[in-house]
Amino acid sequence: MSEDQIRLQKVLARRGFGSRRVCDDMIAAGRVTVDGEVAVLGRRVDPETCNVEVDGAPLGVKSDLVHFVLNKPAGVITTASDPEGRPTVVDMVPRTPRVFPVGRLDADTEGLLLLTNDGDLAHHLTHPSHGVDKEYLVEVEGEVSRSAVRQLRDGVELDDGLTAPARVTAVESSLLKIVIHEGRNRQVRRMCETVGHPVVRLVRIRIGPLSDHQLAPGEWRELTSEEVRGLEIASAASTDR
Ligand code: URA
Repeated sequence: MSEDQIRLQKVLARRGFGSRRVCDDMIAAGRVTVDGEVAVLGRRVDPETCNVEVDGAPLGVKSDLVHFVLNKPAGVITTASDPEGRPTVVDMVPRTPRVFPVGRLDADTEGLLLLTNDGDLAHHLTHPSHGVDKEYLVEVEGEVSRSAVRQLRDGVELDDGLTAPARVTAVESSLLKIVIHEGRNRQVRRMCETVGHPVVRLVRIRIGPLSDHQLAPGEWRELTSEEVRGLEIASAASTDR
C-alpha cells in the first residue's frame, strides 16, 4: 500500500465534514464514493490522485487545505513566530499542516481569528478591495453621544485618511457594535479614540458570514466546508463594492 494513502474518514474530517466519527457515519451510509465506487469503512485513499465524492459532489483538489477559527484571548500576539518568544496565535492550533493568521488582531483584542494554509482565501479576505465585513463588540470609556455614533458611522479622519462608512449600534451607553470592512492597523481603536472614547475592551464577533458564540476564549475548531464556501462567496462578492 502506498504511503500516501490515508484513511478516508480522516480526509473527510480534514475537509471540514465533521469529526472522524461523523465522517465514518457518512461512509457507512453509502454517501461517499472513491473513483466512482461506494466506499466502505476503513477505506484508505491517496487524496492527491483519488476522486472522492460526497453526495455526488467532488471534494476537489484542495485536499490539504485547513481552515481554523480561533477565539483569540487577550495577551496573545497575531504572528507566525515571535523573536521574543511570547505566545502566538499559531501556538494555539495544531502545528501541522503549518497555518498562518488571516489579517491580525492587536495583542489586547479578543475574538475570532482565521488561521489557514489557504493562500487564495487569505488573499481574498485581506485584500483591501475585497475586505469582508468584520463585526466588533467595543467597550469604550465614557458615555457615547448620538453625535459620536454619527461620526463613527459617517467616517472618521485618521492620520492615514478618512475611514469608510461603518455600521454602528449603541448597545449600551458605553458598549458599541461596529461593523467595518477595511482592515487598517488598530482601526477600531483609533476611530473610537478620535471621537473621544478610548477603547477599554475589543472583541471581534463576526468575520463575514462566520460567527461562533460557543467557542470559548483559547478554543479553536475547523471550519465546515459550508463555512469555507461562505467566506469564499463573501470575499468574492465584496470585490464589487
Ligand atoms: N481594530 C482594532 O483597533 N484592533 C484590532 O485588533 C482589530 C480591529
